[in-house]
Amino acid sequence: MKRAMTVSIGTLLGLTLTSVGAAAADKAKGPTFNTDVAPILFRSCVGCHRPNQIAPMSLLSYQDVRPWAKAIKTKVHAREMPPWFADPRFGKFANDKSLTQADIDTIVAWVDAGAPQGTGSAPPLPRFSEAGWSHPSGREPDLIIELPVEWKVAAEGEMPNFNLYSPLPFTEAKLVEAVQVRPGNVAATHHITLAAQNLPKGMALGTGPAWPGGPITTNVQVAAEKGAAVDNSGDATEEDAADEEEGAGSSIGAYIPGASARVASLGVAKWIRGDRFKYVRWNLHYQATGRPETARPSIGLWWQTTAVSNVERGSRFENQISEGQPLVAPAGTKGLRLNQLLSPIPPNDGSWTVTGIAAIQDDVTVLGFGVHMHLRGREMTYVATYPDGRQEVLLRVPKYSFEWQLPYEFAQPVKLPAGSTVKAIAVYDNSVNNRMNPAPNKEVYWSEQSWDDMFLPSIRYTLDKLETKPQTSTQGQP
Ligand code: HEC
Repeated sequence: MKRAMTVSIGTLLGLTLTSVGAAAADKAKGPTFNTDVAPILFRSCVGCHRPNQIAPMSLLSYQDVRPWAKAIKTKVHAREMPPWFADPRFGKFANDKSLTQADIDTIVAWVDAGAPQGTGSAPPLPRFSEAGWSHPSGREPDLIIELPVEWKVAAEGEMPNFNLYSPLPFTEAKLVEAVQVRPGNVAATHHITLAAQNLPKGMALGTGPAWPGGPITTNVQVAAEKGAAVDNSGDATEEDAADEEEGAGSSIGAYIPGASARVASLGVAKWIRGDRFKYVRWNLHYQATGRPETARPSIGLWWQTTAVSNVERGSRFENQISEGQPLVAPAGTKGLRLNQLLSPIPPNDGSWTVTGIAAIQDDVTVLGFGVHMHLRGREMTYVATYPDGRQEVLLRVPKYSFEWQLPYEFAQPVKLPAGSTVKAIAVYDNSVNNRMNPAPNKEVYWSEQSWDDMFLPSIRYTLDKLETKPQTSTQGQP
């Protein structure tokens, strides 16, 4: 049926438009780069496939694309590119760049026909920032904060997570409409999370070469060597900090593999509390690439320029259940982490589940979800239960990939009334069938290291009642 249609339209074009020109002739012969393929690549690929972005090659012109034609066919046919992991049956997401079957057929037919350029010219490129920032409007950031030192990453060995501090360059509460964290070195960066924070107890101001008058840590040796403020307490993360009012901070953003600028939805902004916090805490995790590397990450901030009615919030899933058992945090700790579970992930268990529950106490609008686990993470599903008992799957990531921790931003934000709950159900595969699994015979505990694991679902939402003042909560999720 489909074939007959195509033939008759083709014939029709051939009959009626023979004299009209080369473009029509191209059309009758099959897809060309200029007419058919470039629009697909410009829409779904060049956000990553252009200079200074995370992908290995640029796909901006016919000359760039032609040598990759066969590889492109393979990757799009297998639906491995563009990377996208949400089950298409649930939810529509604004940052879903997946190709339609028609797009895939066009690319395959084009490659099979020898990847012709066609006549005329390709459509204009989307607008991009010159410096490689990824705001969808192409605007450069209003403020860029660079790590004040060029960090040296050794060629070999395990590298723990650590924190550096640099002064936050403003003293008011600022509303931002977008935040982007650029790693400076993609290959050597495992992840970066950033928070606005005050210095933890025990850190004193010093005079390192990186920022004269800036802070220096108790870890004098590393600090002296790097000329920077370093906190080598390893696992010390937001949760620890939040336990101690002094050090409590609020999230600015994160770099995780595959991420670009996170843009708040129209009319929604996010506070960065320069009025409360004096420093940026750079939580940095590097990985060896086999040769010595340097990395200098930076943060781009775009101020909110239009009036907003709502401010973004984030929260975690505190109440956890595993295999039907509620998990209770040991006395004296706030919040649960996977190292505090009643039992860690058992060895050789192919489907170990943890469910986290977030109780919704006000009418809210959910903007999106994040999904973070490590190498044993296999699946995560978010299920809303409405006050009337109705359940709805909001997002399902059936084949989680540690290499691609994409945010999931709803095309139409989801309204949840007070009294709803959201469950995040994670499944871990600690068996030999998981080819990413570094040690199936081990019990797995929480840590930031990828050979340990994490349970970190996150939800971004706004309160439906009007908020005009900065939030006082220190909760926040990149
Ligand atoms: C979110 C960022 C992103 C998007 C969007 C994206 N890619 Fe990629 N692509 C990457 C990265 C990073 C790699 C290298 C790592 C890998 O292969 O997984 C890659 C690898 C590839 C490769 C393999 C290159 C090789 O060395 O063999 C091809 C081919 C490719 N992409 C084509 C595409 C096409 C075509 C699209 C659009 C339909 C696309 N990509 C969209 C980030 C992206």
